[in-house]
Amino acid sequence: MKFQLFFLTIIISVGVNSVRCSDSQNKSKLIIIGAGSSGIAAATKLVAEGFEDFIILEAENRIGGRVHTIPYEGDASIDMGAQWVHGQEGNPVFQMAKEHQLVKEECPSYSGIMLVNSSRVPMDKDVDHKLLKMMDEIINEHDEDMLKYNGSLGDYVLDKLRATLNNNASLSHYLSSPRFEESFEFFGKFENSVDGSDSWFQTSAKGVAKYDLLKGCNVVVWKKGGYGNVLKLLLKQLPGQTPIDLGKKLILNKEVNKINWSDPSNILVESADGTIYTGEKVLITVSLGVLKTRPDLFVPPLPSWKKDAIEGLFFGSDAKIFLRFPHKWWPDEVEGFSLFWT
Ligand SMILES: Cc1cc2nc3c(=O)[nH]c(=O)nc-3n(C[C@H](O)[C@H](O)[C@H](O)COP(=O)(O)OP(=O)(O)OC[C@H]3O[C@@H](n4cnc5c(N)ncnc54)[C@H](O)[C@@H]3O)c2cc1C
Ligand SMILES: *[C@@H]1O[C@H](CO)[C@@H](O)[C@H](O)[C@H]1NC(C)=O
Ligand SMILES: *[C@@H]1O[C@H](CO)[C@@H](O)[C@H](O)[C@H]1NC(C)=O
Ligand SMILES: *[C@@H]1O[C@H](CO)[C@@H](O)[C@H](O)[C@H]1NC(C)=O
Ligand SMILES: *[C@@H]1O[C@H](CO)[C@@H](O)[C@H](O)[C@H]1NC(C)=O
Ligand SMILES: *[C@@H]1O[C@H](CO)[C@@H](O)[C@H](O)[C@H]1NC(C)=O
Repeated sequence: MKFQLFFLTIIISVGVNSVRCSDSQNKSKLIIIGAGSSGIAAATKLVAEGFEDFIILEAENRIGGRVHTIPYEGDASIDMGAQWVHGQEGNPVFQMAKEHQLVKEECPSYSGIMLVNSSRVPMDKDVDHKLLKMMDEIINEHDEDMLKYNGSLGDYVLDKLRATLNNNASLSHYLSSPRFEESFEFFGKFENSVDGSDSWFQTSAKGVAKYDLLKGCNVVVWKKGGYGNVLKLLLKQLPGQTPIDLGKKLILNKEVNKINWSDPSNILVESADGTIYTGEKVLITVSLGVLKTRPDLFVPPLPSWKKDAIEGLFFGSDAKIFLRFPHKWWPDEVEGFSLFWT
């Protein structure tokens, strides 16, 4: 919906302004900043609608941004960034992927994950799974309470878990057991990886309660090729398709340093090497992190309601570390390990 409005805006303003500056160099009707999945999705949609007068400026030497699949051995690959397709119903990525049979039908259960502590001792599954399950239920089955809670997600779960254990004579001894701290800490770290937070004591309980997951499997896995398939799908680069050639529209290694919108119908976009590109519209797809660290990007500065949003929103880091072993030392039935390190 939003996109269609945006598209209309472009069309309307084109006729008015195209005459005035048609003689200047590096001028296009639209400048897209960033060739991540958002920028590429916008570009391919525009081309499909017959709109060609745009360029994409990308700071890196590749497209994809936080979608970054690199080849591994054979036809295997590694997703440095996005990996799972979260949800099926109403998810455009899932719909495209399913149409081309690129994703697995079955939803992984990850039931073969082994829990170990930092002394390499496998954890007591009965106890730890019970605690983890309780915390999962606290988050996923009490939306009403969570919506009323003004504190952090960590505090909410801690309060609820303590209350649940205190109120049950057969469980109250867990409160003083090392299992409690280990499980609580592990679950918090897991939540952080889901929420993209550094600490779940900084995540709003209310915010998590308000977040709607798309229905269907939440961890859909690609058959092969990883999340990078999404770029191929958008650019129609799969076998049998006619690829969308962005050609000279896509300019890599162009970091934008300044967006001068003093004249909102003739915006000057300056790159680190001093090149100036002129556009009647600019579509900015850089991450919140870039916006937070580059308040000088905009001339004049953004209006305060936008600056407030950029300052008020937070994020943590989701990091991946890939380990390679010379041989397989784990039992066949083990799918992975959860590290219960305090
Ligand atoms: C480790 C990790 C794991 C993830 N796992 C998942 C997952 O499993 N499933 C999922 O759905 N999502 C996952 N995500 C999130 C997902 O990757 C992002 O939401 C998505 O890729 C964002 O796309 P985007 O185009 O909006 O932004 P980006 O991909 O960040 O694209 C922005 C582009 O703008 C460019 N840019 C920035 N500043 C400038 C500038 N000044 N000038 C020019 N260009 C600039 C950047 O180089 C980048 O290419 C994960 C993210 C990370 C980091
Ligand atoms: C790991 O678990 C074992 C068995 O319960 C225990 O003896 C050991 O102290 C634990 N290690 C840590 C670091 O908690
Ligand atoms: C939470 O904050 C809102 C708005 O400030 C307030 O009206 C409400 O009473 C608070 N709820 C609790 C449980 O403190
Ligand atoms: C106490 O916990 C046990 C084990 O999880 C459960 O079977 C039982 O129903 C609980 N009792 C109450 C009163 O919640
Ligand atoms: C921004 O662009 C205007 C013209 O639209 C120009 O007069 C002004 O000097 C520019 N400002 C900067 C800081 O580049
Ligand atoms: C236009 O862009 C090209 C390279 O992208 C650059 O060499 C040239 O100087 C630019 N022109 C202006 C007026 O900035």
